[in-house]
Amino acid sequence: MPEIRKNLDRMTNTFVQAAGPSEILALNQEFKSIDDIVLLTVGEPDFNTPEHIKQAAIADIAANDSHYAPSNGTADLLQNAATFLKHHYQLDYDPKSEILATLGVTEAINVSIKAILNPGDEIIIPEPTFPVYALAAKAFGAKVIHVPTAADGFILTVAKLTQTLIDHPQAKAIVLTTPGNPTGVSYTEEQIQSLAQVLKQHNVFVISDEIYSELTYDRPHASFAKALPEQTILFNGVSKSHAMTGYRVGIIAGPHALISQIAVVHQLITTTLPGVTMAAAAEAFGAGENDAESMRIAYKKRRDYLIESFTKLGLSFAYPDGAFYFFVKIPAYLQQDGFKLARQIAKEAKVGVTPGVAFGQSGYLRFSYATSLEKLQIAVSRLAGFLQAEKQAK
Ligand SMILES: Cc1ncc(COP(=O)(O)O)c(C=O)c1O
Repeated sequence: MPEIRKNLDRMTNTFVQAAGPSEILALNQEFKSIDDIVLLTVGEPDFNTPEHIKQAAIADIAANDSHYAPSNGTADLLQNAATFLKHHYQLDYDPKSEILATLGVTEAINVSIKAILNPGDEIIIPEPTFPVYALAAKAFGAKVIHVPTAADGFILTVAKLTQTLIDHPQAKAIVLTTPGNPTGVSYTEEQIQSLAQVLKQHNVFVISDEIYSELTYDRPHASFAKALPEQTILFNGVSKSHAMTGYRVGIIAGPHALISQIAVVHQLITTTLPGVTMAAAAEAFGAGENDAESMRIAYKKRRDYLIESFTKLGLSFAYPDGAFYFFVKIPAYLQQDGFKLARQIAKEAKVGVTPGVAFGQSGYLRFSYATSLEKLQIAVSRLAGFLQAEKQAK
């Protein structure tokens, strides 16, 4: 059909044309072809899914669980997710009416945004952050209010929140992520309480993505849902906590009135999750509710190693108390274009990193430590050589 090909601009969605495929995934793919490279690009655990969870999935298949499951999720999964949230974060949700299972947190983001926003509505997104929030909002024709946080240690301050709400009184939602991607920075209980005091006075939903909640290294995770239960749409899941990115299970927890709206969108888009992945996630939140602990200890060791190593190399970074990322400021003596620099480091030092600009903040690089300590040691030694050579060249 040559006419359609010629008229593709007119025949397809303009946002999709402008957005294009993910730059992060494309860069990662490009780096993979470099022989012997150490990839610190990946945002997923390097561990295998715990054995008992895999067995639960196998048993589910053997039991011929091959039919449509309940749209909001199986009773087991919803009950175990509710118990997990209660045990770990002292949150109270009714599994029958206040929790919805989604295809990873990625679906949670998309269906929640679609359920809340009409075209032209405003959503506040502090940056740098996971790029899917803004892309999902823009794809639905919403207007994104970008709020930079680099000058405040990657935390949204009360002053900035207050000013943003004054400037955008019609904003319907704000997205907060704790611990954060790409920074690894998390909000303290006190910071959450102060922000909640402000948010309480406004008709604004708080979309709180807490997918990294099990991976905190200096203090227990603090949840926005605890401080602001009536306004918070909480995301969590098993992707990061249980090394189950490929199973694609996330959860949304929130007030029933809102969950029932989001469930309408979920039904339209997904119908329901596969029974087999829900059986695995039910096991993860149930018998495996503390599975993340051994992985958390390993990540903490790697984080501590990198804090020491990067400091010795003279690099400055946001203090990462959660997730598995470092957000490192590009030193003045290096190329300042993040994409060019990442390509140079990949080629010359054989270390793959992601430019901060892919998360909405130029001048930084993201390093993921979801890889073995041995590989991190190789990466650090290569980086040391690269930085030394670049310093001398200047
Ligand atoms: C903050 C954040 N939210 C959501 C996701 C996606 O999670 P899922 O794999 O469960 O869709 C990621 C993945 O990197 C993330 O960093």
